[in-house]
Amino acid sequence: MYVSHLSLLDFRSYASADLELEPGVNAFVGRNGRGKTNLVEAIGYVATLGSHRVATDAPLIRSGAERAVVRTRIVRGDRASTIELEITQGKANRARINRGQQVRARDVLGILRTVLFAPEDLALVKGDPDGRRRFMDQLLVLMMPRVSAVLSDYERVLRQRSALLKSARASRRSGGSARSESAAAELATLDVWDARLAELGAEILSLRLQLVAALRPAVAAAYEQVSDADGDAEIAYRASLPALETGHPPELSTGSGDNSTQVGQLRDLLLEALTEARPQELERGVSLVGPHRDDLVLTLGGLPAKGYASHGESWSFALALRLASFRLLGGDPQNSADSPAFWDPDLGTDADPVLILDDVFAELDVRRRERLADLVLPARQVLVTAAVPEDVPVVLDGVRFHVEPGTVTRD
Ligand SMILES: Nc1ncnc2c1ncn2[C@@H]1O[C@H](COP(=O)(O)OP(=O)(O)OP(=O)(O)O)[C@@H](O)[C@H]1O
Ligand SMILES: [Mg+2]
Repeated sequence: MYVSHLSLLDFRSYASADLELEPGVNAFVGRNGRGKTNLVEAIGYVATLGSHRVATDAPLIRSGAERAVVRTRIVRGDRASTIELEITQGKANRARINRGQQVRARDVLGILRTVLFAPEDLALVKGDPDGRRRFMDQLLVLMMPRVSAVLSDYERVLRQRSALLKSARASRRSGGSARSESAAAELATLDVWDARLAELGAEILSLRLQLVAALRPAVAAAYEQVSDADGDAEIAYRASLPALETGHPPELSTGSGDNSTQVGQLRDLLLEALTEARPQELERGVSLVGPHRDDLVLTLGGLPAKGYASHGESWSFALALRLASFRLLGGDPQNSADSPAFWDPDLGTDADPVLILDDVFAELDVRRRERLADLVLPARQVLVTAAVPEDVPVVLDGVRFHVEPGTVTRD
């Protein structure tokens, strides 16, 4: 698929912008701070409903404006769709698909798919687990948009459960028999939340385990290609479940397509772990078990990448994670990773993602630049940003845009 049109209204530094994009390479060139990243950030936002730079929507709205609008036209096979997203300060975002009725923003997920690589991705390797959890979850949502609802339900259960744990801790601390009745009621409610958490948590856990299994060989291969084959890059899922942490994790069923048995097994393991952790959870007032405590462990030649890998190695690893995602989503037919059984195959046709490389080439030496250029060439559409035109490798021939504050012109 590719984006054929982008128009912005009060998005970031743009009062308005309107541009036609082409399949193949589209490079945005302009000096620092001119608004290149703002453009690709808008396209990434339409695909993921999130920015790769900020956790909240407020900075996306042009300062002084009340709402931002991002309109895109997406061509997939011989069909085209339009998405109009409205980002409003302090309100739920709304969307319109093909100029229809207003719908929830979440309903646009799955129409545009992007894989974006940016300097911020270094945090995937060097940063905290939450960035890596977001990486896995975002990829799952790109593959199966329905996962977005599961994730937000889980978040909600987690928030309510954690609030309950805190209040239970407070009433325990204040003690006294007058409180015992309400304490018992709190514990009963906690049981209900445990069941919900285990149910949704098992679904997320099962998907992440399958995702990591599918991604593992693709990451190793991509690392080898981007880094000159120095060192084995491995990824592994680390669960907060004691049963999965031991050297002998239980044999989980891995049926193709239907994974309900595995989800059931994981739910039971989560419930068990929740029962075990309860005294500690009540003591601390925090939810200690579940996918929100898990991590994606990255190792390079057997050593943890975080804390050991050099800057260049960390950079290559982050890039390998994105390239592997791109291939898993079918972005490179010659190098497509094994299509995971859990992924709805219908989504796969023509759904190859748009590849976005934000400010990536400046970080690489000439050889790595050329190698990366060769790797991304098979993409149906690549959007590149660079401050210096010479940083864009010559093989990435295509359309060039010149970016000046508030305006974009095609060269
Ligand atoms: N909400 C906003 N309202 C107005 N201006 C904004 C807003 N958010 C960001 N900007 C402005 O946008 C500019 C940055 O744009 P952007 O990050 O796209 O630059 P860039 O061209 O990618 O630069 P670099 O080459 O340094 O990466 C800054 O001048 C910033 O002040
Ligand atoms: Mg930038």
